[in-house]
Amino acid sequence: MTTSTFYSRLGRWLIAACLMLAWGLPLQAADTPPAVQQQAERQQTQPGNNAPMWREVRQDKAHFTNNPGNEAGVLIQSAGNTWRHLRNGPVTQYGGWLVVLVAAAILIFYKIKGPLTNHDPLTGKLIQRFPRYERVIHWITAGTFVILAATGLAILFGKHVLMPVIGHSLFGYLMVFGKNVHNIIGPLFAVSTIAMIIIWARDNVWQNIDALWISKAGGLLSGEHVPSGRFNFGEKTWFWIGVTILGLTVAVSGLVMDFPNFEQGRADMQLANIVHAVAAIFMLVLSLGHIYMGTIGVHGALDSMKTGYVDETWAREHHEEWFKDVKAGKSGHPQG
Ligand code: HEM
Repeated sequence: MTTSTFYSRLGRWLIAACLMLAWGLPLQAADTPPAVQQQAERQQTQPGNNAPMWREVRQDKAHFTNNPGNEAGVLIQSAGNTWRHLRNGPVTQYGGWLVVLVAAAILIFYKIKGPLTNHDPLTGKLIQRFPRYERVIHWITAGTFVILAATGLAILFGKHVLMPVIGHSLFGYLMVFGKNVHNIIGPLFAVSTIAMIIIWARDNVWQNIDALWISKAGGLLSGEHVPSGRFNFGEKTWFWIGVTILGLTVAVSGLVMDFPNFEQGRADMQLANIVHAVAAIFMLVLSLGHIYMGTIGVHGALDSMKTGYVDETWAREHHEEWFKDVKAGKSGHPQG
């Protein structure tokens, strides 16, 4: 027997086995389903053409199975192919370019404009900006987010970016590890995001003074200092759109995939996957802006989240209304 005859016979047996699985029936001549006959005939007239089998398989109908699992009787769900094309096509392609372009735009902005600095000298007098519990919640959210972003990027783009560099084997080990880390850290991020929304929602409510911040683009281009409350309009936008809407979307869609124990079907998981990836990419690009402003973009900002305290000059120049409130004893936090 030549090698090609061997493979041709093997192929026919595999197809027959698939059909047996699909119907759960022994292939006996008497009750041979029509599609099996069509496939057998097609093999004679056009060897290698498996259209009758695939037409049957892709009907999305439940067949007989002893496995009690949800949708276990559906051998192949056709929408899975649509999901695969969407995820590996536009989501990966446009998402990847969006991340690269936003990161490049931030770097170019930094090169041209440099950081926002204080106009007046520091006074050496410190006031409290974030008590300990707020800093703990912030850094747990930030830490888990960075781990999820790194592993999530590897899951979506690693095949194109990492695998050609580090090879199949190392990439395989890394992804098994990364995927499990992603699955385990996700729920922690969900809990800390909810805690963050609870502690900061009140101070992120929009106020009239935000209109001034918008009209002056926050002084980002002119460098002038624009008064704001405890959080400025840029921070509020990050809080409501980035953390609240996108953070909760990413968390809920992630939990749907993390715990497939609630009768979720394949279509639910595919929808959750696309929603998760798209929301995560938008959250990531917004977070790049936030991380930039919290580190190299604004002199002295990182100190507030590291130590909980800021210089009075910084407070007056960046959050003047809040500074006045603190001085008047109207806003403040228990020492922690
Ligand atoms: C990992 C890098 C990060 C750094 C270096 C960073 C840094 C900072 C700093 C310095 C502040 C204080 C700004 C101020 O005093 O006005 C701040 C505030 C804040 N951060 Fe982050 N952060 C990071 C990641 C995150 C992440 C991942 C989230 C949410 C998922 C987050 C959510 C917030 C929120 C909500 C605020 C309060 C201001 C607001 O309402 O927008 N941060 N961050």
